[in-house]
Amino acid sequence: MIKYLGSKRTLIPHILKAIGTTPLRVLDVFSGTARVARACKVAGHQVIANDHNAYAATLARAYVQADRHRHHHAAVELVAELNATLPKPGYVTDRFCTKARFFTPENGARIDAVRDRIATMKLDDELEAIALVSLMEAADRVDSTCGVQMAYLKKWAARALQPMVLRVPELSDASRGVCMATQQEASLAVASHEVDVAYLDPPYNQHSYLGNYHIWETLVRWDQPETYGVAQKRIDCKTRKSAFNGKRSMYQALAEVIGQVQAKVILVSFSNEGYLRRDELEGLLSSRGAVTIEDHDYPRYVGARIGVFNPQGERVGQVSHVRNVEHLYRVAVTTDATTA
Ligand SMILES: C[S@@+](CC[C@H](N)C(=O)[O-])C[C@H]1O[C@@H](n2cnc3c(N)ncnc32)[C@H](O)[C@@H]1O
Repeated sequence: MIKYLGSKRTLIPHILKAIGTTPLRVLDVFSGTARVARACKVAGHQVIANDHNAYAATLARAYVQADRHRHHHAAVELVAELNATLPKPGYVTDRFCTKARFFTPENGARIDAVRDRIATMKLDDELEAIALVSLMEAADRVDSTCGVQMAYLKKWAARALQPMVLRVPELSDASRGVCMATQQEASLAVASHEVDVAYLDPPYNQHSYLGNYHIWETLVRWDQPETYGVAQKRIDCKTRKSAFNGKRSMYQALAEVIGQVQAKVILVSFSNEGYLRRDELEGLLSSRGAVTIEDHDYPRYVGARIGVFNPQGERVGQVSHVRNVEHLYRVAVTTDATTA
């Protein structure tokens, strides 16, 4: 899995426990790496994983929608073929290895060649997603960042000097109905699907996921966009905004999503570092039913623990604290509280 800010790897056992063991229909509204949605699928639930970014929807298509029994053998052959592709410098090498230094030029040329090869293969949607995830994860293992693509390190990270090698993503099988990946705005996703459990893990501050992971978006879309700034971000990072990244817009956006969720249970994870105050979130959730809360204390993401860096990758400050608390809210929705 890729390095991802706000990934809920360590919270998964608590989320699964809160959902329970009876197989249910689960909607993960902000699926990110898809690791929570995948864990729900493996636990026997029927899952819809949604995220508005293309790279996240691709991760969900591979890890949630695609089944192992249908794709594993083809994926093994495909990854072997992609690993044998001869390096050829192109867009990635130009933007992310020469104009910026996220990968060595040798690995940039590998990424370019593999991505071009995938584009010519005419794979079905799920196998293409598996190939793209394999490439994204391989590139992530040899990047030279602190985990976000707003900046790269001044000196190459040791892992960046290794040659990039693709691996077969660990696919899983659905045991209860077909699982699905969608790429919708959160409000549309909750309005479109009636489920047993809706899990909400929205962004909680100003940092845009598109800006933090712009290279994955470009790699998946392969649209060779105009770029800007030291990090060579896609030009549409300036215009494709999430309401969940604004201090003022977040409350309204979350109120809309919570008000429209069609589920018996709503689970929300939210950090104590988030824009929303605890009483504000509790007010929103209690309008839908009885709320219970668990608190879990975690180390902050690796970049925060390493320090504060400027866009040139130079350390410019210390962080104030190295742990944060993740609140897990559970709402037992009362039928007459549904607003739709
Ligand atoms: C905190 S992350 C989710 C992390 C995920 N639970 C995991 O474990 O990997 C929030 C996600 O919300 C997505 N997102 C942001 N705004 C959105 C919106 N308006 N609609 C749908 N998804 C959105 C981001 O792309 C990001 O992947």
